[in-house]
Amino acid sequence: MVDQAGISALGIAIPDTAIKLSDLAEIRQVDSAKYQIGLECDEMAICTDSIDTVELATKAAQKALSRYHGSIDDIGLIVVATETAKDMSRPFSSWIQEKLNLKGALRSYEVKHACLGGTIAIKQASECVLSGAASGKAALVIATDQSLYTPKSPAEPTQGAGAVAFIIDEHAAIARIEKQSWSWSEPVYDFWRPIGHNYPLVDGPLSLECYKKAALKCFTQMMATQQYSAKALFKHFKAICFHSPFSKMVYKAFAELCTSFDFSENETKAFYHSHVEPFLKFNKKIGNAYTASLWISVAHALHDLKTNEHIAAFSYGSGFGAELLNFTKMSDSEDIGWVEDIQDHIAHRRTYLSQEAYIALRGC
Ligand code: CAA
Repeated sequence: MVDQAGISALGIAIPDTAIKLSDLAEIRQVDSAKYQIGLECDEMAICTDSIDTVELATKAAQKALSRYHGSIDDIGLIVVATETAKDMSRPFSSWIQEKLNLKGALRSYEVKHACLGGTIAIKQASECVLSGAASGKAALVIATDQSLYTPKSPAEPTQGAGAVAFIIDEHAAIARIEKQSWSWSEPVYDFWRPIGHNYPLVDGPLSLECYKKAALKCFTQMMATQQYSAKALFKHFKAICFHSPFSKMVYKAFAELCTSFDFSENETKAFYHSHVEPFLKFNKKIGNAYTASLWISVAHALHDLKTNEHIAAFSYGSGFGAELLNFTKMSDSEDIGWVEDIQDHIAHRRTYLSQEAYIALRGC
């Protein structure tokens, strides 16, 4: 048995191309306040012919490996979580292995559970390390996705793309993944993509209710087992990160949690502004990167927090499944350059699609 498992390196990649939600609103003849205030989305990253989810995953993995104290020969497991599947049989991880020239004595597979997939992959990798089954080797875990919805559908303004890669090992140089987590699952059809469909089918209102219910169930379990009062929860965690399909969804779920804790409206807003919102800044500029969305927020928190501070991470995947994880920041001295990568990238975004280019890309 091994004492701990955690994140020892991290890399993020997002496409160079994006569209401003104000432009999408003009294209669809919607008041842009609906997208920017109603959903709290500013921009969305878009994959084009020059970059797809394999390229994003590879770039994120290369960045993580370049920040890792070990080498690619230390990788004993590669897991890729995605809902942008390339094949019904061949695992997505095989494409990444080709790009990284990663082969030999290792296990390689793909995980699918809507946006929850990245969380399951991280939990499996950390449990593999903790059990001793990894024999001292590290796991490369990647969450990569682009979200695309039917053009003109209500979900279109919540599209996005991105990839986050982690190296998980027993050194846990950046953050320890705490062993206990709290999950909840119910079989529903809130968002799903039948075989052969280009876009998901979405029951938007049901998906919002499932997300909020899952958050309440997971947080309630954590508070019961840890014997936290609601106020103690906010004292213990310096950051509370949520899967972010769009930022307003996070606020809605958080506000409902706070109502169940009997917080006043002012307390709810204060906790949201101190514990949640600061770590959603990039999500508002990237959009919903499905499996990677929560981890973009967690990466931001891991960058900002100090040694020994704690992060809660709530993951939701339609269908539905949810899990609440917690992390402890281990060191301030590791290479935490991933946030600068994103900041630079967003500040110097190369291509904003014109309205005409977006219409051409989507076909209408
Ligand atoms: N100015 C300001 N605000 C405005 C406005 C205006 N002119 N017009 C509308 N609004 C507000 C509305 O009041 C509403 O705010 P509240 O919810 O606070 O009342 C908000 O804008 C959105 O308006 P609608 O509810 O009318 O939006 P919609 O029905 O057109 O679409 C949606 C919303 C159903 C969430 C849609 O975007 C969707 O289907 N998204 C995909 C599903 C999704 O992301 N679900 C989240 C949970 S599931 C999940 O998390 C998995 C995943 O990643 C997909």
